[in-house]
Amino acid sequence: RHRSIMRLVLLGAPGSGKGTQADLLKAELGIPHISTGDLLRAAVRAGTPLGLKAKAVMEAGQLVSDEIVLGMLEERLAQADAAAGFILDGYPRNLAQCAALETLLARLGQPIDVAIKLEVPSELIVERIAGRAAEQGRKDDTPETVRERLRVYAEQTEPVAGHFAQLGKLRVVDGVGELAEVSQRILGALPAGAPSAA
Ligand code: AP5
Repeated sequence: RHRSIMRLVLLGAPGSGKGTQADLLKAELGIPHISTGDLLRAAVRAGTPLGLKAKAVMEAGQLVSDEIVLGMLEERLAQADAAAGFILDGYPRNLAQCAALETLLARLGQPIDVAIKLEVPSELIVERIAGRAAEQGRKDDTPETVRERLRVYAEQTEPVAGHFAQLGKLRVVDGVGELAEVSQRILGALPAGAPSAA
């Protein structure tokens, strides 16, 4: 029932499980997982001019400039696979990005269908990120940077959830539990079937 075109935004604090769930759901929904964090990390690894600019900002836990991220996102959304819909993870991250996304998608006649916010208590967030730091050594998973990322989330990204709530498009999902359990909750929160291509 979820196979129709679906444009989904995943919201939630750092470590709430957005990337993990998007990876699990992309096959189920038949749409790509588009993570601005993954795109930025790939640019940093590749040493592109954009990556060189982004690196220090990411390691400080702050937001990369809206223009850089929007340009990168536009390029990614223009690829063929995104025509079938997408799971957007890590974008929009502040109200300016929210407005830019709406302008872009309105131009394409492809509005966001639903925003899912994963809720996880902060003690668990800290535990999960510590686990990932030990496993993967992500440069921004140090305790100080995580504190800054959580602060930036509360200040700049929480209002994005409020914006989708005002549009009647926000669904809040409990992000605590087994991975499959959380996936089922997300699937259950999606609008039933109807494609929304304008
Ligand atoms: P980004 O990559 O978006 O990071 P984030 O939002 O901080 O999110 P995380 O990747 O930390 O967490 P997640 O919610 O995806 O959780 P995950 O599934 O990994 O951004 C990084 C940086 O890039 C930003 O700080 C910024 O500088 C820049 N950036 C990115 N987008 C930007 C934008 N739009 N504008 C400007 N700057 C931007 O899970 C976390 C851990 O928990 C994993 O180890 C996982 O295995 C585990 N886990 C997941 N689910 C469960 C579960 N149910 N039970 C137990 N463990 C679980």
